[in-house]
Amino acid sequence: MTRKFIVGGNFKLNGSQSSLKTLVEGLNQGDLDSNVEIVVSPPFVYLDQVRKAVRKDVAVAGQNCYTKSSGAYTGEVAAEMLKDIGIEWVILGHSERREIFKETDEEIGLKVAHALKAGLKVMACVGEKLEEREADKTTDVVFRQLAAIAKHVSDWTNVVVAYEPVWAIGTGKVATPDQAQEVHKAIRGWLKEKVSAEVAEATRIMYGGSVNGGNAATLAREEDVDGFLVGGASLKPEFVTICNAKA
Ligand code: G3P
Repeated sequence: MTRKFIVGGNFKLNGSQSSLKTLVEGLNQGDLDSNVEIVVSPPFVYLDQVRKAVRKDVAVAGQNCYTKSSGAYTGEVAAEMLKDIGIEWVILGHSERREIFKETDEEIGLKVAHALKAGLKVMACVGEKLEEREADKTTDVVFRQLAAIAKHVSDWTNVVVAYEPVWAIGTGKVATPDQAQEVHKAIRGWLKEKVSAEVAEATRIMYGGSVNGGNAATLAREEDVDGFLVGGASLKPEFVTICNAKA
């Protein structure tokens, strides 16, 4: 089975109407590999602008959403609202949500459940911190995070796993291809054991953490690396190079 390569651009808390206009124009003019699925994720307030302006073969993702559809939850955004404005994807469980905003495994699992129910596709993020890797706990952590997500998923068609080692995020310290492959293979093994061989074979596992135009092609050669979730470099013209890394 061939898994379609997928590249996401997580803009995080960056951008303005004008900078995103320029960025989208760059993408629209870029020579993008048509065999790659591309998803960009601007901050909520720019989702509509980006969705309307970006080429139709590039999808748009929210960077978060809540576990409820509506109500007295000041400051939150519902999965249904993302759907309502034509957004297809959402990133959930990002380590910045886990660390800075104290989202728990349980809460992330509930968010995944709700987003899938609302009809969104989910990039579900997992990844270990440096001290956890150094204590040889990488797979313990990643499997624990995966289990909390898997508990709420009955159909994996609309789920992509993003492995983002926390020590590699925004640090310029990218995982080596071997390090990435080792964990991606372990994740696929976990899916095979805990879910099914079919789901393990079909589910895409993206790598995120200091991916750039220079290291993407080497990482993309690894058997279990099915795409990238890109932060900093997704705001630069080299994002096009990353999108084409598999070509
Ligand atoms: O979600 C993408 C991310 O956390 C990686 O960020 O800046 O290291 O590419 P960056």
